Amino acid sequence: MFEQVSTLEAQALQELQSAPLDLAWLQDFDVRVLGKKGLLTLLLRETGKLPDAERPAFGARVNAAKAAVLERLNALRAQAEGQALAARLAGERLDVTLPGRPMVSGSIHPLSRMQAEIAEVFQRLGFNVESGPELEDEFHNFDALNVPADHPARDGMDSYYLTVPGKAGAERKVLRTHTSPVQIRVLKRRKPPIRMIAPGRVFRRDAVDATHGAQFHQLEGLAVDDFGKVRFSDLKGTLESFTRLMFGRRLGVRLRPSHFGFTEPSVEVDVQCFQCQGSGCGLCKQSGYIEIGGAGMVHPNVYAACGLDPEAYSGFAFGMGVERIAMLKWGINDIRLFTENDPRFLAQF
Ligand code: DAH
Repeated sequence: MFEQVSTLEAQALQELQSAPLDLAWLQDFDVRVLGKKGLLTLLLRETGKLPDAERPAFGARVNAAKAAVLERLNALRAQAEGQALAARLAGERLDVTLPGRPMVSGSIHPLSRMQAEIAEVFQRLGFNVESGPELEDEFHNFDALNVPADHPARDGMDSYYLTVPGKAGAERKVLRTHTSPVQIRVLKRRKPPIRMIAPGRVFRRDAVDATHGAQFHQLEGLAVDDFGKVRFSDLKGTLESFTRLMFGRRLGVRLRPSHFGFTEPSVEVDVQCFQCQGSGCGLCKQSGYIEIGGAGMVHPNVYAACGLDPEAYSGFAFGMGVERIAMLKWGINDIRLFTENDPRFLAQF
């Protein structure tokens, strides 16, 4: 029986010689050889078959064998654990020299930025910022602005009309086709002197292409004071100051005769091309000038519609396209970029 212990011990140690460094395997081995029903443990049950005198020595021999195997097993376990830990650490290794992942942050939309830049320039010239609703009524959008009832802009083909519930039943409204109705709201609300601008979104039934959108932004301006105090030359001077502050250069402003119901006389406003400074280039189509909007002296009918005496006041008004100025200033060739919101475009501002 003592021999049996030695044989089992030797076999177990032999098996451990070629054991894999695998904790699960080693655990199996532990149960199989040293566990409660393990090969070596079971030998102790045979103790009873021995003469009394030999029993203690046999027990000691089995325990010594178990201890020897356990010692070897634990050494292998330590090795296997070490290896597993090393593998885990290698897998989780941090390369502290790797560059960090940049945080993507949002930015101000180019149109908001342009609107703010234009507004800042006019604020420096003494204008304050006003606003009005995008859903207007025909009085503010057309009638009070002296736009005749048969003007094509009033046609449903050119403007968006909506019927909405109002105080006195259904009301016909129009998505404002320009920012000019804000002039009316301010003239009705406040007594001149007035120097105001109103940036905002406007809507037209236009087919969308590279230079037209069904919605875009305008900036309205109005300066009104006692009769004779605000003259046409003030309009031109204001527009010249604006272009100098906006484009950082002294660029000529050219006014061409035009027609708007709400101004008399009326003009289209051209600014000398800031790319070629007037000598002619691709941007200005060789004309040396770029159109930025319309302007004029406020029509007497506009004062009258707002309850003011047309003989008592004079003033000028202007309106310009925000997208247009942004496209010119930043060299953007498609108006749709402003609404597509491609991050590669937006991130450039
Ligand atoms: N409301 C005009 C438009 O949408 C622009 C404009 C022209 C505004 C002349 C004005 C003005 O205030 O005086 O085309």
